[in-house]
Amino acid sequence: MEKNTSKDPSHVFHFFLNREYISIAEAKGIYLYDDRGNRYIDASGGPILCNLGHGIEEMATVIADQAKKVSYVHRIDFTNPPLIEAAHKVCQASGDAMDKVFFVSGGTEAVEIGVKIARKYHLDNGAPFKTRVISRWQSYHGSTAGALAWTGATSRRSDFLPYLHDFTHIPPAYCYRCWFDKTPDTCHLECANALENEIMCLGPDNVSVFLAEPVSGMSLCGAVPAKGYFKRIREICDTYDVLLMFDEVMTGMGRTGKMFAYEHFDVVPDILALGKGLGGGYFPIGAVAVPDYIHQKIAENSGMFGAGHSWGGNPLGCAVVSKTIDYLYDHNLIDRSHQMGMYLDHKLQTLKSHPLVGDIRGIGLMRGIEFVEDKKTRKPLDSTYAFSARLSAECLKQGMFIEYSGGCNRGQSGDMIMFGPPFIITEAQIDAAVEILGHALEKDLLSDTSHFSTF
Ligand SMILES: Cc1ncc(COP(=O)(O)O)c(C=O)c1O
Repeated sequence: MEKNTSKDPSHVFHFFLNREYISIAEAKGIYLYDDRGNRYIDASGGPILCNLGHGIEEMATVIADQAKKVSYVHRIDFTNPPLIEAAHKVCQASGDAMDKVFFVSGGTEAVEIGVKIARKYHLDNGAPFKTRVISRWQSYHGSTAGALAWTGATSRRSDFLPYLHDFTHIPPAYCYRCWFDKTPDTCHLECANALENEIMCLGPDNVSVFLAEPVSGMSLCGAVPAKGYFKRIREICDTYDVLLMFDEVMTGMGRTGKMFAYEHFDVVPDILALGKGLGGGYFPIGAVAVPDYIHQKIAENSGMFGAGHSWGGNPLGCAVVSKTIDYLYDHNLIDRSHQMGMYLDHKLQTLKSHPLVGDIRGIGLMRGIEFVEDKKTRKPLDSTYAFSARLSAECLKQGMFIEYSGGCNRGQSGDMIMFGPPFIITEAQIDAAVEILGHALEKDLLSDTSHFSTF
């Protein structure tokens, strides 16, 4: 039998099985270097993850030093100094809004654990029927069966639907394509009120938690909710004893110009899921943080939370978390994320007149662009063009990696890209990045009819 018939001679099972991948051999600052010496601006910091910048000696040292002391102990049997320190620093970073932290190995695990904490809270509060999770369409919460069931990005779900439990989703907070055909002048927060309708229909005694990204990640590329949205959501949750869980896997750790995105909305969640930038781009780690009243309920009743993963709370990852938080403060990087985000937005506005640029949105260093066929009607481009995927590929040819996404139009079509560079990016580097995007947009990508594998 013939072996390894793919374009890639390696034994790697890739995301795109028929694509030739560029091999990145080194990275420094905001730049990636391939094994042929070509340089690329990392304009999305991977999947909006590398917050600090690449190649920081201190980050490498902290991992090496910790590995020499103790690299692993099991959290069920022991605690360890880096775990205690990292939990303390996360709570401190929340201004003590959070009081206890459960570490995991990434964003999906954080979402899964957060929903399980909600379940356990209700069990220990004498409400065993409060099990339903409500989330939003056009959201992304991760790729395991649970997290994917709560995810609302239809293209990510479709192949695996038979494995997903039937949880419900409400419309997204997506002003550019409001599902209620409202404008900022006529908006009465219908998309927030939809939560109350859903809770009523499911029966308040059956609903455990509402899960949302405070600012939408890749599935809506930086959509920021209307003013008052999360205040109304908090009010509804409080009325029906439904916990509010924020998925800050992408938005946390300074990405939006504040340590946590919830600070923009003057609303504190009951459960906070973190990942991506929590490890600065140096270690796979996530976490769930909760206020004291959530932890206390479980502590004073069953006294045990029997969920988790083998690598949870490992000293290596926790040492990286503490160093990441220190690094953000010592280098004033959260304020920098705000400042450079404003500058990036200002530069992106120069592309607003391009016939395909429909919306430029976001906050901090999370800036998305949605492309449309008709700016007036907001008609999306036909998905057969695979426009944003081709645009991202063209940017790569010109020396810049940028993440793209689709499906924002109710899962049927839509084209977006998102900037999410490391916070150390300079104004000159932003100028260079936007210039590359401008050049890529000058290409007639819509006349390319060759097949392009995308998602
Ligand atoms: C908002 C959000 N939640 C959860 C996840 C899942 O995180 P991970 O891929 O680290 O499991 C992601 C990843 O993109 C995300 O953006």
